Amino acid sequence: MPVGPQGTIKGLTKNQLEEIGCQIILGNTYHLALRPTSELIDELGGLHKFMNSPRALLTDSGGFQMILSLSLSPSLSLSLSEGLSDDSNYFRYPCCIWLILLKRVSRFSHLWMGSQCSLRLKNQFKFKIGADIIMALDDVVRTTITGPRIEEAMYRTLRWIDRCMAAHKRPHEQNLFGIVQGGLDPVLRDICVKGLVERNLPGYAIGGLAGGEDKDSFWRVVAQCTAALPEDKPRYVMGVGYPLDIVVCSALGADMYDCVYPTRTARFGTALVPEGVLKLKHQAMATDIRPIDPTCDCMVCKNYTRAYIHCLVTKDAMGSQLLSYHNLYYMMKLSRDLHSSIIEGWFLEFVCKFCRKCSQKVM
Ligand code: GUN
Ligand code: ZN
Repeated sequence: MPVGPQGTIKGLTKNQLEEIGCQIILGNTYHLALRPTSELIDELGGLHKFMNSPRALLTDSGGFQMILSLSLSPSLSLSLSEGLSDDSNYFRYPCCIWLILLKRVSRFSHLWMGSQCSLRLKNQFKFKIGADIIMALDDVVRTTITGPRIEEAMYRTLRWIDRCMAAHKRPHEQNLFGIVQGGLDPVLRDICVKGLVERNLPGYAIGGLAGGEDKDSFWRVVAQCTAALPEDKPRYVMGVGYPLDIVVCSALGADMYDCVYPTRTARFGTALVPEGVLKLKHQAMATDIRPIDPTCDCMVCKNYTRAYIHCLVTKDAMGSQLLSYHNLYYMMKLSRDLHSSIIEGWFLEFVCKFCRKCSQKVM
């Protein structure tokens, strides 16, 4: 799933997303609830209508974005765990959300401590927005943190799923997915995964990963969770990822992924290619008249040269738009090929071919 917190993928039109073959995109409850506001989206007939898109939508709960912002400041992460509460119908975060929203956090970090504001994440936010899949609110802790905070977050995530389920009035229209937390601790993951499976949800996510842990630990957690999750329900690894991670997690039994990587890296002038990445800002691209990837059928590779895109990337927004288009096309094709290799029984061959290719050197 491409990620568009505000319901749009930066620089791409809805028709382009259709062309690329995106069947579902990820929005963020928290961003949408603040702008244009969940009330307005509701009034205008829900997010599908507002975006004029018949495609599926998934909304993440928003708590994770807070952690991302807060993790910029270790002292703030500490104060977060002290100030977080779950015994009322809103959750308190001891930070100034407006500063975070304005993306000026690093400049104003000295103001954070002591400034308090409340993040009202009433569950109806999401029901109003009207996404097809809604992620339960979870308490996300980075895997690099150790100690009792991991256990506290895991149990809080289980308590919150009950409150989300109780507040969910349209289970036949919207699929509420639970999120497995528990850090890198197999015992805590086991408690959480069993607790969620008991609640018989329509789908499950594996959360709290891809936050700086080593790959072995990351893959071990995915393997443990997929082994314990029902085979007939979607298993979604949140915040993943790189093409290789998607291939490995699929081999471990996962089905769904989301990541800003393809579009974010495009904005930095990097294209995804079967051999790895191609840096279009590199001087060698200035005179290279080949397409980004001669084996790619996308609109960008059919119409533009590396030299042309090199010229754009540093000067014009069109450069990152073209690269975003190609990168999303690449990810969608990877997902489709991966899927058909499983259905047609040649997944092992697919994995070997993918790995052989991506270990080749490119610029
Ligand atoms: N995005 C990436 N990881 C996570 C997670 O653990 N929880 C939520 N809600 N979103 C995420
Ligand atoms: Zn292409």
